Amino acid sequence: MRKAQIFRTALEAVLLSTAATADQSCTKETFSDLSLSGGEILDIAAFAVNNFSLPADPSLAVNHYPEAVTGLSACGVNVTYTHAGQNDTINTWVWLPEDWNGRLMGVGGAGWRTGNYWAIPHAASKGFAAVATDGGHYAEIDPSTVDRNTWGLKSKGNVDWNLLQDFASITLDDAATLGKAAAKAFYGESVKRSYWNGCSTGGRQGHMMAQKYPHQYDGILATAPAINWERWLLNNAYTQSFAAVNDAYTPLCELNAFQAAAIEACDEIDGVKDGIIMDPDSCSFDAATVVGQSYNCSTGPSGTLSSKGASVFTVATSPFVPEDSSLVNGRPFAYGLELGSALWAVANTTCVYGANETSVTCTRAPFNVSIEWIQNYLAKDASFNVFNLTHPDYETLFRQSIDQYSSIIGASNPDLTEFKKAGGKLITWHGLADEFIPPNGTIEYWEKVQRQDPEVDDYYRLFSAPGVGHCFSTNAPGWYPGDVLDALINWVEGGVVPDTLEAKTVGLAKERSANLCKWPKRLIYEGGDGDLASSYSCA
Ligand SMILES: *[C@@H]1O[C@H](CO)[C@@H](O)[C@H](O)[C@H]1NC(C)=O
Ligand SMILES: *[C@@H]1O[C@H](CO)[C@@H](O)[C@H](O)[C@H]1NC(C)=O
Ligand SMILES: *[C@@H]1O[C@H](CO)[C@@H](O)[C@H](O)[C@H]1NC(C)=O
Ligand SMILES: *[C@@H]1O[C@H](CO)[C@@H](O)[C@H](O)[C@H]1NC(C)=O
Ligand SMILES: *[C@@H]1O[C@H](CO)[C@@H](O)[C@H](O)[C@H]1NC(C)=O
Ligand SMILES: *[C@@H]1O[C@H](CO)[C@@H](O)[C@H](O)[C@H]1NC(C)=O
Ligand SMILES: *[C@@H]1O[C@H](CO)[C@@H](O)[C@H](O)[C@H]1NC(C)=O
Ligand SMILES: *[C@@H]1O[C@H](CO)[C@@H](O)[C@H](O)[C@H]1NC(C)=O
Ligand SMILES: *[C@@H]1O[C@H](CO)[C@@H](O)[C@H](O)[C@H]1NC(C)=O
Repeated sequence: MRKAQIFRTALEAVLLSTAATADQSCTKETFSDLSLSGGEILDIAAFAVNNFSLPADPSLAVNHYPEAVTGLSACGVNVTYTHAGQNDTINTWVWLPEDWNGRLMGVGGAGWRTGNYWAIPHAASKGFAAVATDGGHYAEIDPSTVDRNTWGLKSKGNVDWNLLQDFASITLDDAATLGKAAAKAFYGESVKRSYWNGCSTGGRQGHMMAQKYPHQYDGILATAPAINWERWLLNNAYTQSFAAVNDAYTPLCELNAFQAAAIEACDEIDGVKDGIIMDPDSCSFDAATVVGQSYNCSTGPSGTLSSKGASVFTVATSPFVPEDSSLVNGRPFAYGLELGSALWAVANTTCVYGANETSVTCTRAPFNVSIEWIQNYLAKDASFNVFNLTHPDYETLFRQSIDQYSSIIGASNPDLTEFKKAGGKLITWHGLADEFIPPNGTIEYWEKVQRQDPEVDDYYRLFSAPGVGHCFSTNAPGWYPGDVLDALINWVEGGVVPDTLEAKTVGLAKERSANLCKWPKRLIYEGGDGDLASSYSCA
């Protein structure tokens, strides 16, 4: 690792020295030649960014440990354009740092956001020319506002297909093109290497780039990817509908107690009692067996684990399989959360407690992206009631969703031939305690690619992260790989092939480390101090 770091620094020095002939005039005129095939530039604004700072924020730390941005100087460029005939208006943002490392970074979005504006300074402060896009719809630049899909329908019954395609893929390609062109105009040199960095929606987008635009990025870091978008969102919503139809809205505190019981039951299978189920597939926990046990709550009265709560927990942690049990290509429609994952992202509720625990009443607090997917894109009616749909209704929705949207937004085409030919490298990891996106979907995709090309490891590597939640999670106990961007750069530029990913716990009293394994290998405890990476191996 040390050697690789030194190499990287030396390479940066080379890149920097070749980038010396910059014009570096941060004015609109510098960028007046920007153009885009299929796009019509409507407006360009350039502005100096001086001594910019942002506090460390775990929710903004895309694929790195939380760190603050300080003293950043850059040239910001806003490019506004439309695709002729499509009546869309897209804003693409580029920040060109004073201390450029010769590279471009495209930063991904989250939820419905095509790009995360506040991730741009993080990339720029590491020396990258950084680009992101709003995809032609609301971008939540003001973090006090909420990311809702108000743009999916032109009118009841009419999906805005152009905006959907803009979100799914097209504006990501545009952003890479515009980012490269803006860097060239400003620095007077072409970008030497281009990288994608995203998690969740950003992870889906990274996979999309490798599939649809295999020449844009040399290296792609695309983690906890929301691939299979048209499927996993439905299983997330199904837990909510199930609770509604069965009058089973359960206090989150009770669901957390089921999670704790699952961890208690399976924690030691891997040989270390640390709150982490290293291999959830080896755990067979039946929530019904703990019904009747008491639990304590910090947010409300304590209570007794109920059979209704057990049924919600079981639905959330089970794959969605059609009732006639015929699987789709040998796979379920969608996977469940792995045992050990938190339940708040699929089964959260808002509860009002009376004078005693028997008078608690709970209502839904769903993950709205999944609800809005059904309303806008399947029912095509923004006020459609999702909460009385049953299992057979969901089977129908799954088939419709796959038929209409898989090729648009699924990002699950296993043919990465062009990306491989272009010399691209893609790293993904997925937390095995991901509370939003089941890791099995990512495993399924990697295995599909591998079936097409046994040499998949040459360009696409998947690592599993036991006990890690979605993207970045301070409340999950697992080993978080926060330095993967370095590993990717070293692979692309130095040929240093990543066999494992260094990872460590975040926010625990005592830091623990482990080297995450490349799928299909799994982390195994070999004995000794369970806090040390040397006590684990991959098998
Ligand atoms: C840069 O910003 C920091 C904190 O915001 C401030 O303390 C410092 O004085 C600023 N430096 C300059 C040169 O303006
Ligand atoms: C550039 O876009 C950002 C994000 O929308 C906005 O806050 C900023 O005011 C814009 N700057 C200019 C000069 O248009
Ligand atoms: C174009 O979009 C705007 C809103 O962005 C809308 O008001 C207008 O009606 C649209 N025009 C057409 C022709 O669809
Ligand atoms: C809940 O708290 C009570 C009182 O502190 C304690 O006696 C009991 O063992 C706790 N129950 C559980 C399941 O943790
Ligand atoms: C994940 O995939 C494994 C292997 O196919 C399967 O045994 C397991 O049930 C799946 N887990 C969930 C929660 O869907
Ligand atoms: C669960 O939902 C409640 C009510 O909407 C909300 O206040 C709380 O933040 C949610 N909990 C989590 C962990 O998201
Ligand atoms: C709890 O409160 C409800 C109504 O508020 C009442 O009917 C019930 O008897 C109470 N139960 C206990 C155990 O006090
Ligand atoms: C989800 O949608 C519902 C219904 O529109 C709304 O009341 C709720 O505030 C939304 N939740 C979040 C977290 O935005
Ligand atoms: C579901 O709810 C909608 C609106 O509340 C209602 O019109 C419809 O009849 C309900 N469907 C079922 C199967 O209950």
